[in-house]
Amino acid sequence: MPPADPQRLPIAADETEAELRARILDLVEEHWRRFHQPKPFVPGESRLSYAGRVYGPEEMRNLAGATLDFWLTSGPYALQFEARMKEFFDARRFLAVNSGSSANLIMISTLCQEEIVRRLPKTGPRRMVPGDEVITPAVTFPTTLNPIIQNGLIPVFVDCELGTYNIDPDQIEAAIGPRTRAIFAPHTVGNPLDMDKLCDIARRHDLWLLEDGCDALGATFDGKLVGTFGHMSSLSFYPAHHITMGEGGGVVINDIPLMKTATSMRDWGRDCYCEPGMNDTCGRRFGWQLGDLPKGYDHKYTYSSIGYNLKVSDMQAAVGVAQIDRIADFVFRRRRNFAHFQQRLGELAGDIILPVVHPKAEPSPFGFPITVAEGIDRNALVRWLEDAKIETRLVFGGNILRQPGYRSIEKRVHGELVNSDAIMNRSIFIGVYPGLTPDMIDYAADRVLAFFRRT
Ligand SMILES: Cc1ncc(COP(=O)(O)O)c(C=O)c1O
Repeated sequence: MPPADPQRLPIAADETEAELRARILDLVEEHWRRFHQPKPFVPGESRLSYAGRVYGPEEMRNLAGATLDFWLTSGPYALQFEARMKEFFDARRFLAVNSGSSANLIMISTLCQEEIVRRLPKTGPRRMVPGDEVITPAVTFPTTLNPIIQNGLIPVFVDCELGTYNIDPDQIEAAIGPRTRAIFAPHTVGNPLDMDKLCDIARRHDLWLLEDGCDALGATFDGKLVGTFGHMSSLSFYPAHHITMGEGGGVVINDIPLMKTATSMRDWGRDCYCEPGMNDTCGRRFGWQLGDLPKGYDHKYTYSSIGYNLKVSDMQAAVGVAQIDRIADFVFRRRRNFAHFQQRLGELAGDIILPVVHPKAEPSPFGFPITVAEGIDRNALVRWLEDAKIETRLVFGGNILRQPGYRSIEKRVHGELVNSDAIMNRSIFIGVYPGLTPDMIDYAADRVLAFFRRT
């Protein structure tokens, strides 16, 4: 490659690395200022997204800084991100991973590893083996369900509630069978599950409790963050989610015996737990005798679980680190937008089911879900809003058992999935993400009201 054009990129011969870096980052910030600012909103012309990344110069400076560091793999930013998220959740451990789907895969696969048997206490939930059952809602995101199937476990489908869109907590206990080992449920569109009921059932029946918190960062139940109730919980940092690093996710680990195996599942299944760039953290790198390996076999190449590689790059983590500082403001704005819709659309109570929130819950809303009354054409509402440049989304896979890929999976279904079908046929959600301002919410609410006022 030819050297940089000296006219375009004047570099003083005596410029230090720190000076050059500072200048590059200032230019990056200037780029953000000039070319990344949100455009003014023009009702009917600007597209109102259901979600999107919200970021400032800090994210771009961090990303450019990580590029200059050229660490590439998980490194200092990934460690910083994990430490800060661990503190945020007051968790035992926080694992940064490359997606929310990977976080779900790690959680379920961890509980299936032979490795955990020797770490678990004498009482409480046991390791899961093929044929064991996991209770999960029929309205779900595919990669909440997939790890159950991929690990040879049997999903037990329970219906959901209209209004909360969560698994119906009152049907869970009756769905438990002799081989049921876990409950795995999302806090759908950021609305907390009834954690009193779920924790109580899991405790009394010695079940694993896994929360899919991908849509719910910052939501609380009884004043406590969701993600801190179950043995483990997942997060997604895809741009539609509460904070982003492009592709990314996290596992909140609240149970000490699961920490090492979950980390190993992310890191190729290895037994070694050295952080990036470290060697011999255990002090016995060449002193172990594990499995049928010869004594002293390098711990870095010793595998105690059947793992994956699901780590983040340091560039992703660098963006995530800057986003952490925005969590409180993002949650505030999501709640403000949600309350605004709730207030504007309240008069439609006969035409739509408005969101229902447990009295102890404070959602960190992913969207504003509505279900049209029977006899109202949901698809006509979707077209009406999309024509007005207002994006809509369905509640993920609807009744996932009706999806083409899931028709012949091995499963057990508890009761009738009546509400799950209703959600599939009659529900949508619209955006509340922090990039939406009150005038945008008013515009969207006006269009929803106009749909129902047509004669
Ligand atoms: C509830 C839920 N779980 C899991 C995921 C998967 O996250 P990712 O897209 O980061 O893989 C999503 C994604 O939207 C989700 O909404």
